[in-house]
Amino acid sequence: MKIIAVSNYDEMSRQAAELVVDQVKKKPTTLLGLATGGTPVGTYTKMAEAQLRGEVTYAQCRSVNLDEYMGLGPENPASYRYFMQDKLFNHIDILPENTHLPSGTNPDAAGECARYDALIDSLAPIDLQILGLGHNGHIAFNEPDDHFVAGTHVVDLGEATIDANQRFFDRREDVPRQAFTMGMAPILQAEHVLLLVSGEEKADILHQSLTGPITPQVPGSILQLHGNLTVIADKAALSKFPIGSF
Ligand code: GLP
Repeated sequence: MKIIAVSNYDEMSRQAAELVVDQVKKKPTTLLGLATGGTPVGTYTKMAEAQLRGEVTYAQCRSVNLDEYMGLGPENPASYRYFMQDKLFNHIDILPENTHLPSGTNPDAAGECARYDALIDSLAPIDLQILGLGHNGHIAFNEPDDHFVAGTHVVDLGEATIDANQRFFDRREDVPRQAFTMGMAPILQAEHVLLLVSGEEKADILHQSLTGPITPQVPGSILQLHGNLTVIADKAALSKFPIGSF
């Protein structure tokens, strides 16, 4: 595990985008694993800026996203498909047909999980998986539980996650109670995992995830088992590590 300590969110985003751009330059057909949430937004902006400056093209890249709210279609501004279009895909030259998320509106939930797993299998391995960290330690929408799940599945979102994500909705009642999420297998099988964490409110859970017991109660702790994990985190997020660690 490599931990890169940076001063703030902007620096985290700059270094993360640089890593993505280097990866895509090295392998133009890179399969990117992409995340939603506030954390990667700055990285996505800087990825688009790098293309504008002529440093990189994403024209041959493919992408798979981690998750999608159940019941929300691409036209819904709170859906993750809408988020990805708005924050990244509309600003880079990746081909629309090469960007993938679970479909939140497939009425056949089991069928959707099977479809998404088959799709990931056909593209895998993910070359670079970007991850954020939930306040309760969730990665993708793998919530704290008594077991880890390997494949795509439907999750009941915890109250802490609903609280954290209500900022993207008009009202708390509008936050879907369920979501489709990628399981742990494609994340652990990714060639490289890039975990991004910013802010003091994530300090405890980041410390637990990286140094505590590997347990499904702290889903992010499973990343300790990954052989090629890079963490880029700001000083506030790393404040629970002993002074002088980095
Ligand atoms: C959401 C997403 C996760 C993300 C997490 C953290 O629930 N499903 O993939 O990592 O929130 O979000 P944020 O970056 O906004 O703190």
